[in-house]
Amino acid sequence: MIKWRQSLSVGIDVIDEEHKELFKRVNDVFDACMKQQGQEKIYEILGFLKEYTVKHFGDEEKLLEKYKYPELPQHKKLHEKFVNDIKEIEDDVKENGVSVSIITTLNRKLVDWLINHISKVDKKYGEYIKAHPID
Ligand SMILES: [Fe+2]
Repeated sequence: MIKWRQSLSVGIDVIDEEHKELFKRVNDVFDACMKQQGQEKIYEILGFLKEYTVKHFGDEEKLLEKYKYPELPQHKKLHEKFVNDIKEIEDDVKENGVSVSIITTLNRKLVDWLINHISKVDKKYGEYIKAHPID
């Protein structure tokens, strides 16, 4: 499971709220796996996670564009990678069903990535935006 904490704040309320929702959707996947909800259900819940992830990354990228954030191109690439990782997990569930190793995969590919991304990469743009206000 993944838990939001104040130290993960990027200093922008809307983004923090979206990160919390993203964590909730990651936890929904864990929950469904723990409860052994079956291949179709887990596939569906992974779809909800993917959907929200795409929305959230889109919002973030729009914000960074607005502030003319110089590291936006690299940031977009990292977002693409994460969406692809979700798609890979989805495909795996569709083709091979749900195995015990899915929890390890979720922890490594979703939880570790998100914590690392938010605490290093997202916080960096948070500081940039604070230092370069446009309103
Ligand atoms: Fe990001």
